[in-house]
Order: sequence, then C-alpha cells, then structure tokens
Amino acid sequence: MNTRMPLPVKDGFVMKRFPEARPAALCLARVLLLLCTFASASHARIVRFEEGSTCHVCHGKETVTHAGSVHGRFDVSCVDCHGGDDTQILWTAAMNPAAGFQGRFGPEETLSMCAGCHSDYEKMRQFGLPVDQLIQYKSSEHGKALFQTGNKSVAVCTSCHGIHDILEVKNPRASVYPTNAPDMCAGCHENRKLMKPLGVSATVVADYRKGQHGRRLLEKDLAAPSCPTCHGAHSAAPPGVAEVVNVCGQCHGNIRDQFKRSVHYRERLECISCHGSHNNEPPSTAMFTSARPGGCRNCHTEPESRAAVFIRDTLSHLSKARKDLSAAEKAAERAAREGFYVESEQVLLKEAHTALMEFRNTQHSLDMPDTDAQLATVSSKASHVMDNIKAKNERIIDRRIVMVAVAGYMLALLLMLFIKYRRLKKAHSEAQAQHDA
Ligand code: HEC
Ligand code: HEC
Ligand code: HEC
Ligand code: HEC
Ligand code: HEC
Ligand code: HEC
Ligand code: HEC
Ligand code: HEC
Ligand code: HEC
Repeated sequence: MNTRMPLPVKDGFVMKRFPEARPAALCLARVLLLLCTFASASHARIVRFEEGSTCHVCHGKETVTHAGSVHGRFDVSCVDCHGGDDTQILWTAAMNPAAGFQGRFGPEETLSMCAGCHSDYEKMRQFGLPVDQLIQYKSSEHGKALFQTGNKSVAVCTSCHGIHDILEVKNPRASVYPTNAPDMCAGCHENRKLMKPLGVSATVVADYRKGQHGRRLLEKDLAAPSCPTCHGAHSAAPPGVAEVVNVCGQCHGNIRDQFKRSVHYRERLECISCHGSHNNEPPSTAMFTSARPGGCRNCHTEPESRAAVFIRDTLSHLSKARKDLSAAEKAAERAAREGFYVESEQVLLKEAHTALMEFRNTQHSLDMPDTDAQLATVSSKASHVMDNIKAKNERIIDRRIVMVAVAGYMLALLLMLFIKYRRLKKAHSEAQAQHDA
C-alpha cells in the first residue's frame, strides 16, 4: 500500500530470509544502529537506511506480530498507519510529526485512520472488500455514543479487530470470528463498572452463554447466532420492536411467517416477549400454563377470555394427540417384537411426529383451526397405525385357528395310527402264541 518509492527489500530482509535468526539479528541490528544513530547525530547528518523499514529495527515485538497479520501479509507497512519516515534511522527523524508520524490514536483518529483505506473504494476494489464499515459504524449505538455524546469508552475498529494482530474475518482465530465474538464483546459488555452508569445491562453475555444459542455456538455449531448476527457488527444496536421478528426470522423463517398472522404480532408482542433475547430456554408445553415471564398466564389471567379458551382447548387436543401417538408407538414396538414387518407403520409414525413438531411452529399463529388440523393429523396417523396393527393381529388369529385345526387333525391321525398299530401288534402276538401252542 506504500505509495512512496519502493525500498530495495521490504519488511526486513533478515526476518524473511532467516526467520530463526530473528531475535539475534534484531538485537545486533539494534546495537549497530544505535551506534549509527549516535554517529549520525554527532555529525548532524541523517543516515539513510537502505535495507528495509527502519521501524523494524527498534520495534521487534510489533514487527513480528505485524508480519503474521493480514496487513503484514498484504504489505501494509508501519508508516501506512503511523506515518513517519521509515528510511530514517534517527528516531526523531523516523518518528517525526512533520513527516506525518502519529504514535497514539484517539477513538476518532483510529476510525479515520482505518477508514482512510477501508472506506476508499479505489484502494479496496482489488480485494473485493466492502467499504461501508465507517458509515455503518456511525449508525451504531457505539458510533452515536461517540459522536453525539462524546463517550470515548465505546468500541472503535481496534477494540474489536485488534491492532497489529488483525486477521481475515473468516480466520477462526480472528477476534471477530463468530465463536470468538462473545468473548471479545464481553471485554466491555461484562464490565459492570463501565456499563452500569450508562444504563446498559452487563449480564447479556452471561445470559447468552446460558441460552440455547450460546450453548450451540460454544459447541462450534455455526448455525447458531453470535452477537453480531443479531446486532450487526459495525452497525451494532439492539433491534427495535418491529425489527426483532426479522432478526429471528433470518433463521426461524417458518415461525416468523406463522407469528406474523397472529393477534400477538398485531399487538406488538415480539419473539423475545416469550423467549427472552439472550437467555432462551428450550421451549416447552409448560409455557402454556406458566405464569412466569414468557408463560401465557403471565399476561392472560382472565379465566374465560378467548386466549384462555385457546389455551385450554389446545392443551386438551395436544394431550390427546400425544397419547394417541404414544399408544401407536407402543403397539408398533410390540408388533415388531412379535416378528411382524412394521416398515409402513414406522413411516406413518414419523409423519405423525413431524406434524407434532409442526404444531410447535403453527401455534405461533394462534389460529385455532390450523393448530387443531395439525393435531388431528397426528391422531389420525396414530389411529391408522393402530388399525394396521389390529388387522395384522386379526390375520394372525385366523392363521392360528387354522394351525390349531391342522395340528388337531394331525394329532388325531397319529392317534388313530397308534391305535391301529397297537391292535395289529396285539393280533400278531396272539397269532404267535397260538402258533407256538
Ligand atoms: C532508533 C530507534 C527507533 C526507530 C528507528 C523508530 N522508533 Fe518508534 N520508538 C522508539 C522508541 C525508543 C520509542 C519510545 C519513545 C517514548 O516512549 O517516548 C518509540 C515509540 C514509538 C511509538 C509509540 C509512540 C507513543 O506515543 O507512545 C510508535 C507508534 C512508534 N515508535 C512507531 C515507529 C514507527 C512507525 C517507526 C518507523 C517509521 C519507528 N517507530 C521508528 C524507537 C524507534
Ligand atoms: C493497521 C495499522 C497499523 C499498522 C500497520 C501498524 N500499527 Fe502500530 N499501532 C497502530 C495502532 C492503532 C496503535 C495503538 C495506538 C494507541 O494505543 O493509541 C499502534 C501502536 C503502536 C505502538 C505503541 C505500542 C504500545 O504498546 O504502546 C508501537 C511501538 C507501534 N504501533 C509500532 C508499529 C510498528 C513498528 C509497525 C510496523 C511493523 C506498526 N506499528 C504497524 C496501528 C498500526
Ligand atoms: C463492534 C465491533 C466492531 C467494530 C467497532 C468494527 N468492526 Fe469490523 N468487523 C466486526 C465483525 C464482527 C466483522 C465480521 C463480519 C460481520 O459480521 O459483518 C467485521 C468485519 C470487518 C471487515 C471485513 C469486511 C466486512 O465489512 O465484513 C473489515 C474490513 C472491517 N471489519 C473493518 C473495520 C473498520 C475499518 C472498522 C472501524 C471503522 C471496524 N471494522 C469496526 C466487528 C467490528
Ligand atoms: C494502508 C491501508 C490500510 C489501513 C490504514 C488499514 N488497513 Fe485493513 N486492510 C488493508 C488491506 C490491503 C487488507 C487486505 C485485504 C484483504 O484482506 O483482502 C486489509 C485487511 C483488513 C481486514 C481483514 C479483512 C478480511 O479480508 O477479512 C481487517 C479486519 C482490517 N483490515 C481492519 C483494519 C483496521 C481495524 C484498521 C485500522 C487499525 C485497518 N484495517 C487499517 C489496508 C489497510
Ligand atoms: C471497547 C468496549 C466495547 C466493545 C469491545 C463492545 N462494546 Fe458495545 N458498547 C460499549 C459501550 C461503552 C456502549 C454504551 C454506549 C452508550 O450508550 O453510551 C455500548 C453499547 C452497545 C449496544 C447498545 C446498547 C444500548 O442499550 O443502547 C449494543 C447492542 C452493543 N454495544 C453491542 C456490542 C457488540 C455486539 C459487541 C461485540 C461485537 C460490542 N458491543 C463490543 C462498549 C463496547
Ligand atoms: C438471537 C439474537 C441475539 C443475540 C445472539 C444476541 N443478542 Fe443482544 N439483544 C437482542 C435483542 C432482541 C435485544 C433487545 C431486547 C432487549 O433489550 O432484551 C438485545 C439487547 C442487547 C443489548 C442492550 C441491553 C440493554 O440493557 O439495553 C446489548 C448490550 C446486547 N444485546 C449485547 C449482546 C452481546 C454482547 C451478545 C453476544 C454475547 C448478544 N447481544 C447476542 C438479540 C440478540
Ligand atoms: C443465525 C440463525 C439464528 C438466529 C438469527 C436466531 N436463531 Fe434461534 N436458533 C438457531 C439455531 C441453530 C437453534 C438450535 C437448533 C434448534 O433447536 O432449532 C436455535 C434455537 C432457538 C430456540 C430453542 C429451540 C429449541 O427447540 O430448543 C429458541 C427459543 C430460539 N432459537 C429463538 C430465537 C429467537 C427469539 C431469535 C431472535 C431474537 C432467534 N432464535 C434468532 C438459529 C438462530
Ligand atoms: C406468545 C408467546 C410466544 C411468542 C411471541 C413466540 N413464541 Fe416461540 N414458542 C412459544 C411456545 C409456547 C413454544 C413451545 C410450544 C410447545 O413446545 O408445545 C414455542 C416454540 C418455539 C420454538 C421451538 C420450535 C421447534 O420446532 O423446536 C422456536 C425456535 C421459537 N418458538 C421461536 C420463536 C420465534 C422466532 C418467535 C418470533 C417470530 C417466537 N418464537 C414467538 C411461545 C412464543
Ligand atoms: C407479554 C404478554 C403476553 C403473553 C406472554 C401472551 N400473550 Fe396472548 N395476548 C396478549 C395480548 C396483549 C393480546 C391481545 C389482547 C387480548 O386479546 O387479550 C393477546 C391475545 C391472545 C389471543 C387472541 C385473543 C383474541 O382476541 O383472539 C390468544 C389466542 C392468545 N393471546 C394466546 C396466548 C398464548 C397461547 C400464549 C402463550 C403461548 C400467550 N397468549 C402469551 C399478550 C400476551
């Protein structure tokens, strides 16, 4: 990115050619150059350093870290961010404010320094990177707090991405990578002393980790949302009432569509009215009768209201559907143990399960005919299974009767043969006795 005259060897030839010699070389170079500095200073003359960036000589730690970062690998040099003159070895010349050197950056300065490249389409075009980070940032709560109320403790580019160790955002080691983001945001958002005076909750990260999403993400399930998935990264803000349904709908699209048909949606309830925003527990039927926040009885206390009727009827149909399904499952299991083929019944049971799962989505619509139809499907599939197994049992009873009859007939035949044999044997021995006499 350095637009000045290219140096003969960039980024420290010693580092690149002889990485194992890095610490020793740095040490030696530092001593030598310090001597040069004194020599040059005493002659009031500036020594030009032709073998690479002079910054590397005196700043070993930053040099090594920077070399492994995305900027190091894409030849963004120290002076691209800090300014100064990296051909000068006299530090007052290398780090001369007159040459644009900047050692420290306030929050606004950091933003404009990073954006100096990242908001410049001409520079970023070649990498296919978006150039809207600063614009987005200005719309975030971080940006508003900084620019409108002068709160300097908010996140700026380097708070989230790091400084000399910035990596591609797709790198699993990057601080902003989905599985690392909660820890990174936690750096400030778990800090009670910072958050409390601002009236911002300091338990969001702990809550998130306890909830279903946080647990999934902790198990490296990237389908679960990380902090920036719901809040935006550069535009981080809490979603407004009307926005939540779309935030959740990014992944729970079917439920969003059902929910949008409901009275609840028209009454401006949100997904989080029942599930919470960070600490979402696994939903269950218990929510229908619970009076805790999120449970139906938390809001619906009137016994004969339409909501109460919906809850009562739905629960009774649900419990019937579940009973029917469980009875059908037991019957199919027994039949399988007795040696019947139950493949087609297994398919029906699976379909019944799917309908029961779909009920969990559909009930978000509060549309009684629809939810009833779904639960009726469960019961009808279950009774189909029961009928099939009954028919199989009847067929086996018929077969058993025939078998018993055949077995009885054979037994009678055997008995008759035996009697015949005994008679013949008796006659034979009588004849033998007569003969002997
Ligand atoms: C001759 C050695 C030497 C060279 C060459 C040199 N620095 Fe430094 N630099 C130092 C020393 C020593 C300090 C610490 C000064 C202080 O604490 O006030 C420092 C401090 C800094 C700081 C921190 C400033 C602050 O306000 O705390 C930055 C950033 C920095 N250097 C960047 C650079 C860059 C970029 C270059 C190359 C253009 C460079 N340096 C070249 C020796 C050097
Ligand atoms: C992508 C921009 C960027 C690049 C490239 C970069 N720096 Fe920095 N550097 C920063 C920022 C931002 C800070 C933080 C300043 C602050 O704390 O206000 C910083 C801080 C420093 C400091 C002070 C560290 C401290 O602990 O106080 C030194 C020294 C430094 N940089 C040297 C370098 C050197 C040497 C290079 C090249 C190898 C380099 N930087 C490359 C952005 C950059
Ligand atoms: C609140 C934390 C945060 C702040 C502040 C922040 N970023 Fe990011 N940045 C992220 C996250 C998280 C991603 C990952 C991609 C995503 O989720 O959009 C990202 C992605 C990026 C990317 C990759 C391309 C893209 O836009 O997705 C660039 C480049 C970038 N940030 C630069 C910046 C710059 C420049 C600033 C300062 C103006 C900045 N970021 C401020 C969190 C932050
Ligand atoms: C001199 C121009 C320049 C400056 C200043 C600069 N960057 Fe970059 N940045 C680049 C280039 C070039 C890349 C590599 C492009 C790529 O990743 O494809 C890059 C890459 C990145 C990426 C990785 C994007 C990706 O591919 O996922 C992030 C994040 C980033 N920079 C953040 C920052 C932050 C934060 C600052 C300020 C501290 C900053 N940059 C300052 C030029 C710059
Ligand atoms: C450097 C510290 C810092 C980091 C890192 C940080 N934040 Fe913040 N954030 C703040 C501060 C301070 C505020 C309060 C701003 C105000 O309202 O004055 C804030 C506000 C917010 C708000 C708005 C809260 C409200 O009720 O208005 C959201 C949302 C937010 N941050 C999300 C995030 C996310 C997501 C991340 C990680 C990707 C993150 N922040 C990283 C410091 C930080
Ligand atoms: C599933 C989506 C989702 C995820 C993931 C998520 N949030 Fe939130 N967050 C919300 C919603 C919705 C709100 C607004 C409603 C509220 O205040 O409870 C919110 C509110 C906030 C607030 C404002 C709280 C206040 O007191 O004003 C902060 C700060 C915040 N989230 C930070 C985070 C951080 C940090 C993470 C990651 C650990 C995170 N969020 C993960 C959806 C999410
Ligand atoms: C990035 C995708 C994504 C976003 C956005 C998202 N979720 Fe999730 N959610 C998941 C995944 C993946 C699971 C775990 C798999 C599952 O059980 O369905 C999950 C699980 C859940 C669960 C537990 C389901 C169960 O059976 O245990 C609830 C409740 C939930 N999400 C509600 C929400 C709410 C409310 C929002 C918006 C504030 C939201 N989700 C935003 C992907 C997302
Ligand atoms: C009025 C309270 C309420 C609202 C509002 C609500 N839900 Fe639910 N949600 C429930 C109940 C109750 C269940 C569990 C039903 C059961 O298990 O029988 C549930 C179940 C779920 C499940 C688990 C479904 C499954 O298949 O595993 C997810 C995911 C979910 N809701 C997400 C959302 C999303 C996203 C929104 C907003 C679009 C939302 N909920 C709005 C009450 C609500
Ligand atoms: C945060 C409060 C809140 C919670 C929790 C809540 N509701 Fe509601 N519900 C409302 C409001 C407000 C209305 C609209 C006014 C009314 O009819 O009572 C409503 C309306 C309804 C209606 C429509 C009544 C009609 O007039 O047609 C039904 C059905 C309903 N709720 C069922 C439920 C069920 C089932 C749950 C639990 C899964 C639940 N509600 C949880 C606030 C809530």
